[in-house]
Amino acid sequence: VSTVFNFAAGPGVMPAEVLARAQAEFVSWRGTGGSILEMPFTGAEFKSILAATEERLRGLLGIPANYTVLFTQGGASAQFSLVPLNLLGRKGSADYVETGYWSCRAIAEAARYCEVRLAASSANTQFDRIPTQADWRLHSDAAFCHITSNETADGLEYHWMPDIGEVPLVADMTSDFLSRPLDVSRYGVIYASAQKNIGPAGLTIVIVRGDLLGRARPETPQTFTYAVQARADGPFNTPATFAIYIAGLVFEWLERQGGLAAIERLNCRKSAKLYAALDCSEGFYQSRVRPADRSRTTACFTLRDSALTAEFLRQAAERGLRHLAGHAASGGLRAAMYNAMPEQGVDALAAFMDGFARAHG
Ligand SMILES: Cc1ncc(COP(=O)(O)O)c(C=O)c1O
Repeated sequence: VSTVFNFAAGPGVMPAEVLARAQAEFVSWRGTGGSILEMPFTGAEFKSILAATEERLRGLLGIPANYTVLFTQGGASAQFSLVPLNLLGRKGSADYVETGYWSCRAIAEAARYCEVRLAASSANTQFDRIPTQADWRLHSDAAFCHITSNETADGLEYHWMPDIGEVPLVADMTSDFLSRPLDVSRYGVIYASAQKNIGPAGLTIVIVRGDLLGRARPETPQTFTYAVQARADGPFNTPATFAIYIAGLVFEWLERQGGLAAIERLNCRKSAKLYAALDCSEGFYQSRVRPADRSRTTACFTLRDSALTAEFLRQAAERGLRHLAGHAASGGLRAAMYNAMPEQGVDALAAFMDGFARAHG
């Protein structure tokens, strides 16, 4: 196999240029004679990397000045607990929208800290849709309302922006962060694990609106209290330094691609090609997600004859189309088309799907 395309949902494909640059700078960062891995996080060199990384992210997303950017750890899974711990204040409940595997995980964790009220759910239609806003039942006394902008395991994505009034909107954007422009000012908190569109596993980015700092329950660990992490004098404890450095390179790469509007256009083209292959197969490939809510980021589908799934994966891997197995909870097949997935990768996958359907249909 000469070219390999990695469709893993995470850790996922990285831009080749970023890997090459990191390799070139690995042993001696910009002529300093030392590796990033050896830099104290309190020193001027690392501080400059952190500041530049944050600056680039703010530029890409247009993050307003009243929002704090945290480079933290523990993954989105830790945020499932840390969002309630940091935002509940004296309130006792939060609204959640249930749209698939990852929102269920967020809900289960939040239920350990507060009353979870389902504002909307598509569980009774097997998570085939994002419930339309008209069907949401919001509570004005909720501490926040939580959504999962892309359900990585189920293949659903919001293609519209919820409008929920005064209650802070919190979004787990782990899998579609930076895949398109975003109006940050509409959110209270945005969080994302890094290992999809940002960089290496081990880093978690949290963007918090300033007025929401300081609502943490007293038992919240100091190192995970947003207001403590947001202190201007630098990280409270050792951050994921190397992952932050790589994230900075990825943000720089995104700028060179033309920013988020350009990357969104590419992501639209890629996903349109993938779903066209699915829709042209006369039911050989199937998706339970209604077309309006299909994910541009993680396309999940099955074979009409599920007995062929193993053969599909074997032949795909032989052609360099790797990691197409669905999430363990959902089964079937899944193609993650993160920012760094080149269009040729999706072309190759669509051509393979077409040929496989002809051979076995
Ligand atoms: C939408 C979403 N939320 C949360 C997570 C959990 O992330 P982590 O394993 O970094 O905690 C994932 C992981 O794939 C995800 O896709």
